[in-house]
Amino acid sequence: MKILIATNNKHKVNEIREILGSGRFELVTLSDLNISEEVEEDKDTLEGNALKKAEEMYRIAKVPAIADDTGLFVDALDGEPGVYSSRYAGENATYDDNCVKLLNSMKDIPEEKRTAYFKTVVCFYESEGRYKFFEGICTGRIDIKKRGEKGFGYDPLFIPDGFNKTYAEMSEEEKNSTSHRGKAFKKSGEFIRKKFFD
Ligand code: IMP
Repeated sequence: MKILIATNNKHKVNEIREILGSGRFELVTLSDLNISEEVEEDKDTLEGNALKKAEEMYRIAKVPAIADDTGLFVDALDGEPGVYSSRYAGENATYDDNCVKLLNSMKDIPEEKRTAYFKTVVCFYESEGRYKFFEGICTGRIDIKKRGEKGFGYDPLFIPDGFNKTYAEMSEEEKNSTSHRGKAFKKSGEFIRKKFFD
């Protein structure tokens, strides 16, 4: 059985492959299927964007598709950047632009109030009109400066609870064991295995 991962982001493909494993389903990417269409993430909820991506890719590829949308929700900023995390510093913002903007927005916020969480919503779109959401949350805090070189996005600023280092200082394996995306994809993987292979 083929399952399409509706992303071309290599970091994510690697993370997702590691979490879901290959086993009995063949994970294919958009480029494997020569799909070049891009889905605009213009909804105002993570669920809306994940569903839109999975549904459009299912309709194009005609294979079950899995898509995710993630946001970083900072308590002291009333949940910003949230669903707008990728374009926090503007439409064409780089990961670094977004980190710099976040640090600036939080420059007066003391350590004990720098709590935040990542939330991922995964949508598994199985067949026309049939889909399911899975959610993963990782709580933590925002560091006062960037630390670490690994990962992507806000990784150099995010310290998950129970650790004294940022995601960008962790191996992929270590990050996946605690991460929001790890939890959401794990749940979706368990659902798929149970439904199709048990
Ligand atoms: P997306 O919906 O997964 O594309 O995530 C939106 C934005 O959230 C990305 O552009 C990143 O800036 C940020 N983001 C998502 N996942 C992570 C993560 O695991 N670590 C750090 N930043 C992330």
